[in-house]
Amino acid sequence: MQGSTRINGSVALVTGANRGIGLAITRAVLERGATKVYATARDPKTLEALREHYGARLVALRMDVTDAEQVAEAARQATEVDLLVNNAGAFEPTELTDDAIVDVARREMEVNYFGVLRVLRSFADTLARRGGVIVNIGSAAGLTNVPLQPTYSASKAAQHSLTQAARALLAGRGISVHGVYPGPVDTDMTKDLPPQFEKTAPDAVAKAILDGVEAGEDDIFPDPFAVALGKQFHASPKTVERQMAALVAVPA
Ligand SMILES: NC(=O)c1ccc[n+]([C@@H]2O[C@H](COP(=O)([O-])OP(=O)(O)OC[C@H]3O[C@@H](n4cnc5c(N)ncnc54)[C@H](OP(=O)(O)O)[C@@H]3O)[C@@H](O)[C@H]2O)c1
Repeated sequence: MQGSTRINGSVALVTGANRGIGLAITRAVLERGATKVYATARDPKTLEALREHYGARLVALRMDVTDAEQVAEAARQATEVDLLVNNAGAFEPTELTDDAIVDVARREMEVNYFGVLRVLRSFADTLARRGGVIVNIGSAAGLTNVPLQPTYSASKAAQHSLTQAARALLAGRGISVHGVYPGPVDTDMTKDLPPQFEKTAPDAVAKAILDGVEAGEDDIFPDPFAVALGKQFHASPKTVERQMAALVAVPA
């Protein structure tokens, strides 16, 4: 557990704020009384409806997390951020027989690991000045590999490791770091997920994430699938690995 955080009065920056979980978090942060949210997206035009709705409290910025210059420019502009939400994420379906698997894995790693690392590095000094908070949106698939999503899971495992490193290394600078480990959420990313996975609505997930941040939880499991997996994982990681392997097992 870390110190509790008040969203009310904070100045947030959310990556990938234009749709899915990032959009839900952006709205939820503003509804909880954030003074301002820097909503960032690869294409700021996709943030226009949000800007019209929230007015001056919503500042739209261009940020592709794989572009070092765009990330640096956002950090130069958003100098009063005290709540950084690393939400932008990439998933591409692939399997081990796919010729393109190495390229897929690199693209996912570039967003889910190097992107988070780049943004975190660029905003560390700003956050340190303000006793800030970092929220990394990882995945339950980062705790144990989901072989339906083999390379995505590996990129989220790398991100989980980075979250642990950042928590240890930035605590001395007054920055708290929260890792979020959702299960299936009903967004574009999961449109092709097999029906046995029950999906949670993004608004419910955003609420649970902010509740966890305000309560100072290190590891946040923001939906029923994630809560169950988190408990099983802490009891027996090997049991969870076998359950995930069973999802892709070929009948004998
Ligand atoms: N949905 C789930 O079941 C689930 C479960 C666990 C974790 N997560 C994680 O939750 C986060 C949000 O996922 P989601 O479900 O909301 O996915 P989504 O609907 O596919 O949205 C992905 C977001 O990431 C942005 N993005 C992708 N590449 C980017 C880049 N290079 N630079 C900046 N932004 C980029 C997208 O922007 P564009 O519109 O420009 O493409 C979009 O805003 C991700 O980190 C994901 O891994 C999702």
